Amino acid sequence: LPLLLLLLLLLSLLLLQTLLPLRVCGLMHLEKLYVCGNSLRTLPDSLSQLPGLRILALDFNKLEDVPMAVCQLTNLTRLYLGSNRLMTLPPELRNLQSLRCLWVESNYFHRFPRVLYDLPHLKSLQIGDNRLKTLPPDLWRMEALRGLWLYGNRFDTFPKVLLRMENLEILDLDRNKISEFPSLKRLHALRLFSYDHNPVKDPPNVGEEALIVGEGAAEFLEEREAKKERRRKAAEKESEEVQPEPEVCKDK
Ligand SMILES: *[C@@H]1O[C@H](CO)[C@@H](O)[C@H](O)[C@H]1NC(C)=O
Repeated sequence: LPLLLLLLLLLSLLLLQTLLPLRVCGLMHLEKLYVCGNSLRTLPDSLSQLPGLRILALDFNKLEDVPMAVCQLTNLTRLYLGSNRLMTLPPELRNLQSLRCLWVESNYFHRFPRVLYDLPHLKSLQIGDNRLKTLPPDLWRMEALRGLWLYGNRFDTFPKVLLRMENLEILDLDRNKISEFPSLKRLHALRLFSYDHNPVKDPPNVGEEALIVGEGAAEFLEEREAKKERRRKAAEKESEEVQPEPEVCKDK
């Protein structure tokens, strides 16, 4: 592993200093490449000669487009593109059929990139700190999605389509301008919901298993705990009353 790290460092330096062309012969099996914070505006096409890459991190650069070479790395499972200058994703991104996690936070997306519908295994999407005002009404088609980070966008109403995304486990709408939330009880898988820094009066209603983060959340959770406790006690009491040992079984 230290060898791999050394290799990564070396490659990073190489990219930083010479940029083009990247000499990557013999790196067929490289699985992770981190090239973050290098002010890159583009990447060499020879990047596509790293077909074994599973993790590629390109955050904190100056990319205005996703380089085509990236769209040829079909074994990628995680792709980090945060803090660049992206407004869209190219249609070729659908080549990345193994992709599980995509980070595109802190870019310039005005519209949700619908090419993501074609990535059937995408579980986690980080698109916080962009400029989204709405979500497409057929977003529910992303059935594999479990975590969705939408903090720091421009939503002023709760996107209704989210109520249909019953597989969501994490939903983060922190720092938007939403003043009213519907009940989220039908999102049965939801475990964490953040609505902090929105102009809301009351915390939204969520299922028994969900933690919430935001104004009034602590009180809400306390009250729910207390209710659960009361219910548990009542149930215990009831079972004590109805379960005296039947006499007939005792002498067996
Ligand atoms: C891509 O992933 C598949 C499945 O895990 C593996 O068999 C294949 O060798 C990988 N390709 C490269 C070039 O490493």
